Amino acid sequence: MKIADFRSDTVTKPTPNMRRAMAEAEVGDDVYGEDPTLAKLEARVAGLLDFPAALFVPTGSMGNQIALHLHAPRGSEVILEAKGHAFHYEMSAMASLSGLMPRPVASARGIPSAADVAPWIRPDVSYMARTAAIVLENTHNFAGGTVARREHVDPILELARARGLKVHLDGARLWNAAAALGVSEASLAAGFDSVMVCFSKGLRAPVGSALLGSVAFIHEARRVRKMFGGGMRQAGVLGAAALVALDEERARLVEDHARAKRLADRLAEIPGLCIDAATVETNIVIVGVDVDRFGPAPTLVAKLGSAGVKINAAGPCSVRLVTHADVDDTDVEHCVTAFRGLAG
Ligand SMILES: Cc1ncc(COP(=O)(O)O)c(C=O)c1O
Repeated sequence: MKIADFRSDTVTKPTPNMRRAMAEAEVGDDVYGEDPTLAKLEARVAGLLDFPAALFVPTGSMGNQIALHLHAPRGSEVILEAKGHAFHYEMSAMASLSGLMPRPVASARGIPSAADVAPWIRPDVSYMARTAAIVLENTHNFAGGTVARREHVDPILELARARGLKVHLDGARLWNAAAALGVSEASLAAGFDSVMVCFSKGLRAPVGSALLGSVAFIHEARRVRKMFGGGMRQAGVLGAAALVALDEERARLVEDHARAKRLADRLAEIPGLCIDAATVETNIVIVGVDVDRFGPAPTLVAKLGSAGVKINAAGPCSVRLVTHADVDDTDVEHCVTAFRGLAG
């Protein structure tokens, strides 16, 4: 049975060009700063996002956690969007690695406004922890791949400056946001103190992310990466695939977005499924499920799995589907047919 895998854009396999580049990569020991391919990748991604410096990190989670470790002193609070990745899916790392208290803030479509955030910034009093940093996520994964535009981001950056807070951007899918809006990644990254981007999601590289910031910040980030166990040796083998990802895969993302839209439109026609079409801007579709008809989300996930369609639950009565290079229109049809079959 052919499997249609909509669980995540992380399931993509590296392209033949990536494998070739990996085999031929010039490498050295990056802990000694001697890997020319990683140096090239870091310069390239810094240039693309118009940041002074970049650091290759093994995962997006590590990139986020290094940033928080540097932005927020032990015992301080970090404001994050309530459905955000760094809050839900990074194993409480900010608490266990850096002694930080997350302050989740609910928002519409995963994009908090300055008015959402402002009440949660602690006053400077002797009986409360200090707020040190804010994290935004663009696109926002569990809000459905929603895109934060400059008009959303700028008031938060202004508020943060006024209150002396650092702002980190979890840009695991910033490529998708830029593709959806038809703007440069740099235009969406401007003004943040640090940005993390991933090569291993829609861009299909097997491993790797980058953290971006000032030269001084990245100098410190290199030390924290080593402390967190992420100092790598001949990692140019990985960097080579990421360079191909940057050169060859960004332009393709609009196809994933169009396919997600088609998938959402088709699923929305099925009784018992509910999709907020306004949230389907990129490659992620969150589907509300009538549990009386389909059963709770984990049951639906299992039933679809038996029909050869892999998806993930996003909550007790919602599921998430993600389009990527390794699903095509036939997989979309297969998926819609499987849902229809279960709707009765
Ligand atoms: C928005 C977001 N941030 C960060 C990450 C973490 O990336 P990684 O799985 O490489 O740690 C993910 C992973 O899916 C994500 O979706």
